[in-house]
Amino acid sequence: MHKKIFPSGNAMAAAAADIIIDLVKDMPDALLCFATGNTPIETYRLLVQKAHDEQVDFSRCFCIGLDEWLGVAPETSGSCHYILHQQLFSPLGIAASQVHLFDGMAADPELECKKMNILVAEKGGVDCMVVGVGLNGHVGFNEPGVDTKLGAHVQELHQTTLDSGKHYFDTPVPIRKGITLGLTHVMHAKLLLMLANGTHKAPVVKQLLQDEVSNVLPASFIRRHGNGWLLLDEAAACMLEEQVLLEK
Ligand code: F6R
Repeated sequence: MHKKIFPSGNAMAAAAADIIIDLVKDMPDALLCFATGNTPIETYRLLVQKAHDEQVDFSRCFCIGLDEWLGVAPETSGSCHYILHQQLFSPLGIAASQVHLFDGMAADPELECKKMNILVAEKGGVDCMVVGVGLNGHVGFNEPGVDTKLGAHVQELHQTTLDSGKHYFDTPVPIRKGITLGLTHVMHAKLLLMLANGTHKAPVVKQLLQDEVSNVLPASFIRRHGNGWLLLDEAAACMLEEQVLLEK
């Protein structure tokens, strides 16, 4: 793992966007995986802007979503599906044929998981995955205690996740479970970008860097990722011990 601390959330987002742009320039047919949530909003805005400014061609990329709320329809504002289309796919001109997202309304969520596992395997794994960190240390919807050997799976969501989740929606939604790529996907991503900004993330960032690597805090596994980049702003890094701050 590599760690970088930026003076601001905006600088962190600009660096993340640059990394993705460079990857797509080098590998136009990359398989990209994106999280939603508040953390990557600025990264995605800058990614779209840089893609336009530098005329980067996303037309051969394939994009997947990291996760989705089960029981929430794609067209519901606040669903991962809706957000990714609004923030990324539409402005980047990425066609529906280049995207595969979990369907939160799937009659058979297990089949939905199987389809995603097959797709990722057929494409030879994820080339670049962008993830955030939950307040409880989750990655995607891999909640504390998750079986680290799982691929895509349905996950009962913890109360902290349900509480944060409510804020993404304009109207109340009956969420209890999520559908997510597994930690095996996260760990096998050829490039893993984990983003965290803001003082509210400082306690979990401290835990993920200073506690043991374990499924008690799924995000801590980034420390075992050979090409994992933990990108933080100073606010998210503000609780780190001097020694940890100095480590690269
Ligand atoms: C969302 C996702 C979640 C979020 C995490 C942080 O697709 O995968 O794991 O990344 O809950 O959310 P924010 O960024 O809103 O703090």
